[in-house]
Amino acid sequence: MSQRKRVFSGIQPTGEAHLGNYLGAFRRWAEMVNDYECFYCIVDLHAITRDYERPELLRRVFELTVSLMASGIDPERCTLFVQSHVAQHSELAWLFNVVTPVGDLQRMTQYKEKSAGLESVNAGLLNYPVLQAADILLYRADYVPVGDDQRQHLELSRDVARKWNARFGDVFPEPETLTGAGSRVLGLDGVAKMSKSIGNTLPIVADPEQMWSLVRTAVTDPARVRKNDPGNPNVCNVFALHEFVTDDEARADIEIRCQTATIGCVDCKRILSDNLSEHLAPVRERAAELTANPERVVEVLAAGAERARSEAEKTMSIVCERMGVGPDVLAASLREFAPKGP
Ligand code: TRP
Repeated sequence: MSQRKRVFSGIQPTGEAHLGNYLGAFRRWAEMVNDYECFYCIVDLHAITRDYERPELLRRVFELTVSLMASGIDPERCTLFVQSHVAQHSELAWLFNVVTPVGDLQRMTQYKEKSAGLESVNAGLLNYPVLQAADILLYRADYVPVGDDQRQHLELSRDVARKWNARFGDVFPEPETLTGAGSRVLGLDGVAKMSKSIGNTLPIVADPEQMWSLVRTAVTDPARVRKNDPGNPNVCNVFALHEFVTDDEARADIEIRCQTATIGCVDCKRILSDNLSEHLAPVRERAAELTANPERVVEVLAAGAERARSEAEKTMSIVCERMGVGPDVLAASLREFAPKGP
């Protein structure tokens, strides 16, 4: 039965879940449970490598769990859990540190970006990709669905697997990146990828008024200054966003009316906002339900962590055996080094 390939993915609890997360990842994660054995992890231990406040962190972990479940990720059909609830992530990360060259970590683009200009850089920021390798390899995952920005971290995970295997014997498969399929969504500025750190996002749980107050600020075709100017839908991010929520016929109509200046940007945004709100209504409703039943969310995470732990233990027992650490290994090895008495 368990012939299915394994998928692992992680997401940081660092901000409100947005349309980019939903279209680029969540929707796809929800579907992947049909074809793969999936582990989805809220990586709080990664999130604390940057400045954070305790109450905010906890709230984000909770809200992200709600958003993932509300987006259709069924915790009965995958393992949904929080990284810090499974101690083996930290344990394996430590063990991986000893096969990871510091130089490789210092060369990581994301490390360079995130550490640039900081007065003091915490070691967690440098070791971030080692923990990520541990996340993935702890479950001996075959595939990791992530965006382009994680390509380098995945490469490092493969290096760690290779180096560890070379020294201690073949245990870890080299995980492959699963790209494509997820949609790349630009933010309200129409320039950068939708991202909480840029602040150009549309939250998936926004109510219709909030949605409109955000969508109305979206940047359109910059060459279209007055309503009578013909617009170019091909360079307009609002038009691009229509693709996700507006049917083909209505979109073709908007396209022509934009080109012939018979629909203004405000009306075009209004339709987008309404369609987004409608499309996301079930997500919003499920999220409200879950938020009203926080115990259920905690239960789901407890069950997820338990399942994850039982898989993690299997890997750790082999790793400990090969590396010569842990109580069982010592107990089993006593005979090997006892003095050979008469
Ligand atoms: N570094 C990833 C990001 O910022 C999050 C992450 C942590 C992750 N561990 C992972 C992604 C394991 C995939 C697999 O997006």
